[in-house]
Amino acid sequence: MNIIWHEQSKQYHLYNEKISYIMCVTPVGEIGGIYFGKRIHDKDDMSYVINRFGLPNVTLDPDTESYSMELNRQEYPSFGTTDFGTQAYEVELPNGSGVSAFVYRDHKIYKGKPGIKGLPATYANDDEAMTLEITLADELAKMTLTLFYTIFKDYPVIARHAQFRNEGSSGVKLIRALSACVDLPDQDYEWMQFSGAWARERIPEVKKLSTGSVSIESKRGASSANQNPFVIVKRPNTDDFSGEAFGFSFVYSGNFIAQAECDSFGRLRILMGIHPDRFTWLLKGGDSFETPEVVMAVTDCGLNDLSRTYHELYNDHLVRGKWKNTPRPILINNWEATFMDFDEERILAIAKTAKEAGVELFVLDDGWFGERNDDYAGLGDWIENPAKLPQGMAGLSSKINALGMKFGFWIEPEMVNPDSNLFRRHPEWVLSIPGRKSSLGRHQLVLDFSREEVVDHIYNMLKKVIGGAEISYIKWDMNRSLTEVFSAELNADEQGMVYHKYVLGVYSLYERLTQEFPDILFESCSSGGNRYDAGMLYYAPQAWCSDNTDAIDRIRIQYGTSYGYPISSIGAHVSAVPNQQTGRSVPIATRANVAFFGTFGYELDLNKISAEELEQVREQIRFMKEHRALLQFGTFIRLRSPFEKDQAAWIVVSKDRKEAIFALYCMRSNVNMLPGHLKLAGLDPEQVYVMDDAEYYGDELMNLGVTLTKLSQSGLTTGMDYVSYVKVLKAR
Ligand code: DGJ
Repeated sequence: MNIIWHEQSKQYHLYNEKISYIMCVTPVGEIGGIYFGKRIHDKDDMSYVINRFGLPNVTLDPDTESYSMELNRQEYPSFGTTDFGTQAYEVELPNGSGVSAFVYRDHKIYKGKPGIKGLPATYANDDEAMTLEITLADELAKMTLTLFYTIFKDYPVIARHAQFRNEGSSGVKLIRALSACVDLPDQDYEWMQFSGAWARERIPEVKKLSTGSVSIESKRGASSANQNPFVIVKRPNTDDFSGEAFGFSFVYSGNFIAQAECDSFGRLRILMGIHPDRFTWLLKGGDSFETPEVVMAVTDCGLNDLSRTYHELYNDHLVRGKWKNTPRPILINNWEATFMDFDEERILAIAKTAKEAGVELFVLDDGWFGERNDDYAGLGDWIENPAKLPQGMAGLSSKINALGMKFGFWIEPEMVNPDSNLFRRHPEWVLSIPGRKSSLGRHQLVLDFSREEVVDHIYNMLKKVIGGAEISYIKWDMNRSLTEVFSAELNADEQGMVYHKYVLGVYSLYERLTQEFPDILFESCSSGGNRYDAGMLYYAPQAWCSDNTDAIDRIRIQYGTSYGYPISSIGAHVSAVPNQQTGRSVPIATRANVAFFGTFGYELDLNKISAEELEQVREQIRFMKEHRALLQFGTFIRLRSPFEKDQAAWIVVSKDRKEAIFALYCMRSNVNMLPGHLKLAGLDPEQVYVMDDAEYYGDELMNLGVTLTKLSQSGLTTGMDYVSYVKVLKAR
């Protein structure tokens, strides 16, 4: 790993063993792109790549009369001069103009990676990464712009963000401040996004790029289930196993935009950052603004390789604290078993049976506080309801801990019901516009987390409950989008700051709680996967993947999630049948076979299943305990897509390739067909593996494949919906 500055040609080369990222100071002093891809040799001068000519109807820089931004690759393009593509940023000066001219001033190259104040970001020590900071200045605006680039030693990854500083005395307005822009030299690419809605999150969609723009976005205040802030740009023939692809992952949990733009000259521009709609950041003299981070990855070996980069990078350099790379406790959550209709006795009855089956952690979901007996009341009143918990959280947690189980509970700190003591005392603490009605989502309003006093109040309430009991886990939910975004505390010209300040407020509460309670495992949630993003993983290493717990739907949701997020982050539970969302009845074996590839737990009352099923549950828990390190932290490889066939399959392989576990799911039966073979991947071709007492070579399993008749005892793998197989392979 190194970062080289070629003084003569004004060129930067960031490289490690896998990739090269080459940029230059352009003839007009802005930063231009030269190359992003597989590692290539370093050269003193690659300025032959720069196009120094005009074309009809192209505007040229007046000093050089031979350079147009429009005909060259840009790194962080400005608006209003010689580039007519989408700009990365825009500053409005006091005279109302929107044109900037940030030109190269100096740079720093150093070991390690700086944090971003108040924001989540990947981290690395001095041996693991190097950083380049390029500072540009706009003398007229009296501003600087610093572009940060970090290259990691062991990953084909560049992490980027930008910082604006007002060095003058009059205020300026930042009306757009994206985090990253990459121009690629041709347009023969497809765009892959992960879209959906509640209960059908992160479903992959692929589109061919052509002239014009494709974009996804969230303007909901949270990153959203509708569009995930992770996209892939790939060659048309790239699949899971081969081909070139770039990944762009936004380490942020609020409004965002990700865009691909094919211009008329063959250039492809990819942009990602905070959504510019309703974003205006006031920079008074001396103020600065830092954008969130974008993590860009590249592969020429297919999408499984790209996913592995994100899985390993996020496990090793984004997740922090005690739970980093630590296998997760097997939990039981009472939500689908009781909803809000419970008391201590009912909870203890569920917990006891779960403990006997081997479950390690009990999670008390929504309904334990205030007047919360349905979703019309109570949010904001984080004090135990004595009718349900007579000795409070302290009493219940000590009873559960006495059973030999850990205990955790649910919170939704950003929200308030109009029917709550908090709202009655502080109606001005919600996001709302004076004189206008406030939209409701699940009968609740959103607290104004852009205000420090609001965050302080919630922190103090939660600290009391958490600190007063024996707590090992917190599930942090967020069940509605932001509307009527306006803060009573801010001036008219500051209202464009509220969306981002809200996210900063959420992060600050997360930071305070995770620092105060470093041993607690946090799980993020937002009506399932409505805020499943890399930003959240910095605070909460796992996320409730979806409220859809139907195993067949979950195969698709978990499969889509795996493109950008590690398996250790995927909250996955076995729930009751018929499933509450789909009405489907899937055997308990298949429900577990899907949930094994996640954090694993149960979301039902084990007292209500048959003795035979309870015995299966005991066996599932024993299996998970034996294999969870491999299942959650092994190399995960997608084998067969649930979006293409009636079967899906994936495998996890240990780092030393001595152990692997694969799963095959029959989502819909195909009668009167030969069962065929499933080709595995990621194994050692020379190694002999044992599966069900038979021996196979690694190359045999990866090329001929597993003969599916070998999987079931009956030899039949067709003819039955929802059958699944999970098999362990061990090196002989
Ligand atoms: C939405 C979550 O996704 C569910 O798991 C559950 O916690 C409910 N909220 C509780 O209100």
